[in-house]
Amino acid sequence: MQRLRRHVVVKVQTPCRDARDAASLSQMNRVHHLYCASRHWARAAEQKLVPWALDGVDLGEDVLEVGPGLGATTRVLARRPGRLSVIELENSSAQRLRTEFAPRVDVLQGDATNMPLPDSRFSGVACFTMLHHLPSPESQDRLFTEACRVLRPGGVFAGSDSLGGSVVFWLFHITDTFVRLEPEELADRLQTAGFVEPRVHAIKSSVRFVARKPK
Ligand SMILES: C[S@@+](CC[C@H](N)C(=O)[O-])C[C@H]1O[C@@H](n2cnc3c(N)ncnc32)[C@H](O)[C@@H]1O
Repeated sequence: MQRLRRHVVVKVQTPCRDARDAASLSQMNRVHHLYCASRHWARAAEQKLVPWALDGVDLGEDVLEVGPGLGATTRVLARRPGRLSVIELENSSAQRLRTEFAPRVDVLQGDATNMPLPDSRFSGVACFTMLHHLPSPESQDRLFTEACRVLRPGGVFAGSDSLGGSVVFWLFHITDTFVRLEPEELADRLQTAGFVEPRVHAIKSSVRFVARKPK
């Protein structure tokens, strides 16, 4: 209870496993959507966000990105050698991703808390700026468990998320979902999901993490 009370949920919605409802739960507000498609965000993803989140992290040669949105972070991952797959909840975003990236990236439309993907397939799973869009801490935990399931033994899960704070950030999340990751709880939550050696690093506005599936 203590933990749940401290999580910030900007839009309180009923968690639902149905894909159609889940898609509507994740919808970003219009301004937020436009920003995610902007050059400014693309530059930030390329020059700051992905390099910071993956500093010193080796995701290996078969990587899954969850919650790629409109592709700013996918564009950076796609330049790396090896195979890249993405799973995105919103149909329209998945279509846009296919137009830009297929066939060199496998684009799957689906829910990362319940992935239609086999066990132990990927060398790495990554996610950026998407965990706070899940409707509850429980759904974030389900995503962590799923990330662990689809990783090979020894595989790496890494990513980053926004912690909020700026006025602009709050404007982007009016009528939108924002379930803040509490950095001091994240290592325990990753271990509960099955990971080992979790490392979490928070700065004022963001948190990054990396953890490994046991060998
Ligand atoms: C703010 S966007 C981030 C996109 C990209 N990673 C970036 O940083 O530019 C978050 C994305 O996560 C997606 N998402 C939310 N919940 C999801 C889920 N359960 N499964 C897959 N994608 C999800 C949303 O549809 C949205 O496109």
